Amino acid sequence: MKLSARAAALQPSLTLAIAAKAKQLLAEGQDICSLSAGEPDFDTPAFIREGAIRALEAGATRYGPAAGEPQLREAIAAKLQSHNGMAVNANQVLVTNGGKQALYNLFQVLLDPGDELLLPAPYWLSYPEMARLAGATVRVLPSSAATGFRLDLDALEAMISPRSRLLVLNTPSNPTGVVLSRQELEALAELLRRHPQLAVVCDEIYEHLLAPGHSHHSLAALAPDLAERLFLVNGFAKGWAMTGWRIGYLVGPQAVIKAAIALQSQSTSNVCTFAQFGALAALEGSLDCVTSMAASFSRRRERLSLGLQQLPGLQLVPPNGAFYAFPDVSAYGLGSMQFCDQLLEREGLALVPGGAFGDDRCVRLSCAVSSATIDDGLARLGRFLGSIPSFWGGASPP
Ligand SMILES: Cc1ncc(COP(=O)(O)O)c(C=O)c1O
Repeated sequence: MKLSARAAALQPSLTLAIAAKAKQLLAEGQDICSLSAGEPDFDTPAFIREGAIRALEAGATRYGPAAGEPQLREAIAAKLQSHNGMAVNANQVLVTNGGKQALYNLFQVLLDPGDELLLPAPYWLSYPEMARLAGATVRVLPSSAATGFRLDLDALEAMISPRSRLLVLNTPSNPTGVVLSRQELEALAELLRRHPQLAVVCDEIYEHLLAPGHSHHSLAALAPDLAERLFLVNGFAKGWAMTGWRIGYLVGPQAVIKAAIALQSQSTSNVCTFAQFGALAALEGSLDCVTSMAASFSRRRERLSLGLQQLPGLQLVPPNGAFYAFPDVSAYGLGSMQFCDQLLEREGLALVPGGAFGDDRCVRLSCAVSSATIDDGLARLGRFLGSIPSFWGGASPP
C-alpha cells in the first residue's frame, strides 16, 4: 500500500528505538537502568482525580464544545492573567489533547508550504515533524553547550527571511533545562518589532519546574504590543503530573484560535469531558502540590548535575528548569546514537540520544526517577566512559 508523501516523510522516533531496545533487554532478564523518562514520576494529586470522578458521576460523559468546557477556558484565562501577567480572555483559549495537539493545530492553521519555521536547537523532537506535516520548511538555529545553549539573537536575525513565519521558543527547555531570562525575552521582543511577519509560539509546559532562584517569564506579558502575533502553548502534564490525562491549551489572537477550533472540531472534537473537570480542579485548587513536586525535581536535578560534573570529559550546562540534563559527550568520539546504543548494550543504561533533539554531540538524562536510580545511572555512565579507549588514549582511566 502506497503511503501519502506526508506519512512517508515522517521520521521514526529515535527515542522509541532506544526505548524498544531497553524493553527487549529487560524482557530478556537483563538489569536495565533507565534515565530516559519524559514524565513526572508522581501520581496525579488526589484532589484532581476527585474532581474528575465527581464530574464523571455527575454525568460529564457526553460531547462538549470543541473549544473546551467554558469553565475551564475561563479558569485558564484567569490563571494566565494572575500567574503570567497576560491580558487574555476565554475566547482566546482552546483546550487541546495535550500541549502536543495545541502545537499541531497551531502549525496546521498558520503554516503553508514554503513558510519557514525557525527552530532554535536543541529542540523538543516533535516540533520539526509537526511543522513538516504542515508543509513548512524547518530552519534550525544551532547553539552549543560551549555557549550555554543561549539563544543567539544576532544569528536568529541573520536567518530571518520574508518566508519566516513562526519562531518556536521553549522555556524552560526540554532537553537542556535552560530558562530564558527576562532580559533575553525583552531583547527578543525588540528583534520581533523589526520583523512584523514573524510570529512566535512559546511552549511553557515546564513553567513550574524551576531551580531555586530562577523565575519563569512569559513573552506575552513582557511585550503586550506584540499580542497579535504571540501564541502560548501550555498544559497540565508536567506541572501537575497529568501526562495521561491529555490536557493542554493553545492561546493566541482570537481569529487564529477560531481557525484552530474549527480544525479541532473536524478532527478530534473536544478533549475528554470529565478529564477537563480534573484540570479545572487543578486550577481551582492550591498550587502546593505543584510546588512540592517542583522542589523534589530540583533536588534530583541538582543530584544529577553534580554527578555529571564529576565525570571526566563531559560538558554540562547545569539545567535550571524541567527535569533533564543534556551533557555534551562528543569528547568520547561517538555519535549520540552510537553512544546510547553502546551504553545500553554494555552497561544496561538507557538514555536518549541528543541527535533526536538536533544536537548529536549530547545525550539526555532525566531526573524524574528515584535518587537511587540517578546514582545507579551515574555509576553505569562512569564505568562506560572509563571503558572508551579512544578518549583515554588507549590507556585505562587514572
Ligand atoms: C517541550 C514540550 N512541549 C510539549 C510537550 C507535550 O506535552 P503533552 O503531554 O501535554 O502533549 C512535551 C512533552 O514531552 C514537551 O517536552
